[in-house]
Amino acid sequence: MRFLVTGGAGYIGSHACLRLLDDGHVVTVVDNLVRGHRGAVDALRAAGGARLAFLEADLADTATLERALRDDRIDTVLHFAGLTNVGESMEQPLEYHRTNCAGGISLLQAMKTTGVRRIIFSSTAATYGEPPQSAMPLTESTPQCPINPYGRSKLQFEEVLRGECAALKESSPLAAIALRYFNVAGADAKERVGEDHRPETHLIPICLQVALGARPHLTIYGNDYETPDGTCVRDYVHVEDLVDAHLAALTALTPAQFRCWNVGIGRGYSVRAVLESCRRVTGHAIPAIDGPRRAGDPAALYADPTAIMRDMHWRAQWTDLDRIVSSAWKWMRAHPRGYA
Ligand code: UFG
Repeated sequence: MRFLVTGGAGYIGSHACLRLLDDGHVVTVVDNLVRGHRGAVDALRAAGGARLAFLEADLADTATLERALRDDRIDTVLHFAGLTNVGESMEQPLEYHRTNCAGGISLLQAMKTTGVRRIIFSSTAATYGEPPQSAMPLTESTPQCPINPYGRSKLQFEEVLRGECAALKESSPLAAIALRYFNVAGADAKERVGEDHRPETHLIPICLQVALGARPHLTIYGNDYETPDGTCVRDYVHVEDLVDAHLAALTALTPAQFRCWNVGIGRGYSVRAVLESCRRVTGHAIPAIDGPRRAGDPAALYADPTAIMRDMHWRAQWTDLDRIVSSAWKWMRAHPRGYA
């Protein structure tokens, strides 16, 4: 198959591209390299050779997207490009809406003009907001009430997709799936690509950077949440399991239907539990200090993956936190400065 992958030079997008290339598909990556890495594109080129095309372009550039969709005879779009930091979104809400929602609309417009009608969209558990503990674990029908601009911008684009799939009198209706990711971690087993955010804000890489000596300590954002140890609880899913979910979703795309699935392992770990795991895996003391809460953080988020297991026969293979952390650690030790 022939794929256009937005955000293919980013963390999750690059892992998805690698898998597609390893499986023999043809991939066009569109990435503005604001958050993505040229080094990731190089790794993809090494894996895919002539089956990989790269376009340095912004989602807002509808004309370039149209050209790529048409010239490269794309049949399916995987849409990873976006801004993804909860804390940053509280400071730059407009940027988040512009990139995550308006950028998505530009892509959809290009797809409509060129007749490309299949899209899988990277959505997020942040669209659920701050559900009550009684709502945990989260199913796809848990009400979506985001509490930060990141979650709102992703939910808005879900709504745009839903509307397009339901468009009346559409002779070639859109088929769209949103996968609502929980906390993604880990790296390619062959260490060809991995997690490298600038700035890094995510818990596991920050703990590992402390172990590498690149940071003095971890700051735990809040110890007074209503959770068993007072720190936030999240559901950590390995990036390879997440890529598997995308491959499974390809077979579930149905014209005129918008569908969504949660992708998590169904178990929550607290910030302290993750820290302990990183200490075990690295053998480093990883000093940590308690700090104030980070704006926009819900206390606990973890998935009920029943629907994706039932509908797509997807199963998380990486269910042990130490294994997930080990995978991230392997990449980080091999690439202590990331793609730099
Ligand atoms: N945390 C710290 N110290 C740090 C970094 C993070 O205590 O230095 C805490 C956060 O407060 C949070 C937890 O670790 O409680 C996880 O934080 P991350 O920044 O790693 O991830 P988020 O939970 O903020 O966000 C991620 C994804 C979102 C997704 C969300 C939902 O980036 O796309 O998980 O589970 F929506």
